[in-house]
Amino acid sequence: MGFEKSVLEIKNKEQNALICGWTKVNDEKDAVYWPEFVDSDRHFLITKNGTQYLDAKSTLLCTSFGHKNKEILVPIAKQLEQLAFSQSSDYHSNKLAVLLCDKLIDITENNFSKVYLSTTGTSGVELAFLFTFLYHRSKKDFKRKIIGSFKDAYHGCSLGVYKYTASEEYQEMYNTSTDYRIKLDLPNCSVCKSYNEEENCELECFESLKKNLKSVGLENIAAIIIEPITMKVVLPPKIYYKKIRQLTKKNGILLIFDEVVTGFGRIGSEFAFMYYDIKPDILILSKSLSNGILPIAATLFRKEIYDEIAKSKLYLEYGSTQDANLTCCMSAIATINYFEKNRFSINSSRMGNRLLIDLRQKLRCLNIVSDVRGLGLFLGIELHLDLEYDYFKKMFLLKKCFIRNQILVHIEMPMIIITPPLNINEEVIDEISNRLVEALEEFEKELKNF
Ligand SMILES: Cc1ncc(COP(=O)(O)O)c(C=O)c1O
Repeated sequence: MGFEKSVLEIKNKEQNALICGWTKVNDEKDAVYWPEFVDSDRHFLITKNGTQYLDAKSTLLCTSFGHKNKEILVPIAKQLEQLAFSQSSDYHSNKLAVLLCDKLIDITENNFSKVYLSTTGTSGVELAFLFTFLYHRSKKDFKRKIIGSFKDAYHGCSLGVYKYTASEEYQEMYNTSTDYRIKLDLPNCSVCKSYNEEENCELECFESLKKNLKSVGLENIAAIIIEPITMKVVLPPKIYYKKIRQLTKKNGILLIFDEVVTGFGRIGSEFAFMYYDIKPDILILSKSLSNGILPIAATLFRKEIYDEIAKSKLYLEYGSTQDANLTCCMSAIATINYFEKNRFSINSSRMGNRLLIDLRQKLRCLNIVSDVRGLGLFLGIELHLDLEYDYFKKMFLLKKCFIRNQILVHIEMPMIIITPPLNINEEVIDEISNRLVEALEEFEKELKNF
């Protein structure tokens, strides 16, 4: 398969005016760009030369229900023609926002009773934190200022989210203090020396988490936020999250589930909190909520949280212009209608298993692959690489191999994250497997001459 010329030409001078997030283009002279796409067809993205790339990452976990999905696009187009924008703050009514909230409460099985609609995963998380503090202050508890989050988890990139969740390196860079956050370790049963079967496990990991939390005082912690499965694709045992739920409940700490990625069937259950069989106090959804088409996020609250705030004189002094944007609401309603009709969690589980088994078998003989793991259609291939030197060069080489094999994946070295659309079938899953294996075989070969 040839390497498209246009792919190499994408990094050109026309981009001078554009600032892009998470790229080091100015420093990295050899940066390898993904191709520019001008068209799409269900699970493929198409370049201007007509080359089709398999979208095995659902375009950053957003287009979980495929590209050019008419069942979602047609209602959005109709809404645009009718009334594209209205307001929902300042006592304006927005029927679509109300309908969407009812739908969200319904599909999350009435575990929540109130919803705030914002625009991005980051704003959804920020609102979870705002409500957390509003809740504690409503109870006249002024001590709880700390939020617990897990190492390797990602919750967004506003200053507020960084303040409570960022790593030490970011705290320094963005002039926030480490006083308001505590970083926790996720367990990793596959490398744990004391791991038994789940039922018999003594849960040393949970004991150490408890010790960590106690070191700042449980009475000072406002909430713990969990990204159920992070980009390291480590699967904590169900009992671990259950224990955290018990601990938080007992100690007046709120539990927030950030399901920006795992929501809507990604891991083979409709939502991760259902898979783990626990009831968080706050749930955040975005990305697949609108099939990535328009920016929208939902933060859902359990009844007790909102009731407590309603009892007090406090209210949410917050509101952003594009919150509950009418057309964005329609994109979410249409996506949920499509999701509800098709039971994609079952397909996610079946297709995910098929891909996992196939990849494990085929990648066994590659030295650079140390593990293949995951749940539903959220899979990770872990590479066995020395990343101390030439991190970017190795990453760009890997990317080239994927581009050559016309497949899109998410790379966070040493992990390759595979998250295909949830409405995929066996034929496309097997094609994903073939292209991945081919790309990794090439990478191993080329790495030898590195
Ligand atoms: C788990 C999780 N939470 C929050 C966010 C932030 O979402 P956004 O990029 O839409 O602000 C992301 C983004 O990738 C995420 O993966």
